[in-house]
Amino acid sequence: MGIADQAFDIAEDWDAALAALAWQVEAGADEAIGDAPVNRYELAAEAPKPVAARPAANPVAAEPMAGADPVATARAAAAQAQTLDDLRAAIAGFDLCELKKGARNTVFADGNPKARVLILGEAPGAGEDREGRPFVGRAGQLLDLMFAAIGLSRTSPDAATALYIANVLPWRPPGNRDPEPGEIAMMLPFVERHIALVDPQVIVVLGNTPLLALTGTKGILRARGNWSEALGKPLLPMTHPAYLLRTPSAKREAWADLLSLQARLRG
Ligand code: URA
Repeated sequence: MGIADQAFDIAEDWDAALAALAWQVEAGADEAIGDAPVNRYELAAEAPKPVAARPAANPVAAEPMAGADPVATARAAAAQAQTLDDLRAAIAGFDLCELKKGARNTVFADGNPKARVLILGEAPGAGEDREGRPFVGRAGQLLDLMFAAIGLSRTSPDAATALYIANVLPWRPPGNRDPEPGEIAMMLPFVERHIALVDPQVIVVLGNTPLLALTGTKGILRARGNWSEALGKPLLPMTHPAYLLRTPSAKREAWADLLSLQARLRG
């Protein structure tokens, strides 16, 4: 093969590689995590199911019944969880949500389960998927700063000043796309059980997804700052910190919402 032919082949390889990369970006890939491709669908099929492996005495069994619908299966698994550890295992063993197959970690929660305030976000992003903890990226840093301004922190051991943080979805949607209604409906029984087990004094929902999940209504920009009720608890909708990063002018309203939360906790 002559030099010109080799140069042509290299150019062809380059074009093919670039086209493959463009396709992956289009499909939602947004970071390189290794040199060799990993088929997580195969891994998920091969992986032992954590909940099925639990001792028979443990009542948490998330094994889907043949032909059962995902929401009913999720509801049955969630209802059996008597503790947060049970619930964590039940979610990790729930195999009917496709998002799980593309995720590196199940992101359950962070913070103090005795907290008076439970914050509900949307779904893990890339950093959360990598670390297995909610709100660890830039939005999470802003969240920590915002709530620290009214004396609340996810690292506080004192229930009065603590936060507990969870998401509607425990697995990262590919490319950080919006969660689909079917995914929200399927994971909602776990969210409801999660909130019942933590039993916070108030719930703060960040953004449209948790607002829709807990109240059935949309429109966070209209709803924010207006207290309502969900699952028998006072609920405060706030704009998502990722929105505040994109729209700094909205921080003024978010501050008003934080003061409203502070007043409610003092009252
Ligand atoms: N956004 C969310 O809603 N949740 C996270 O955990 C991270 C970013």
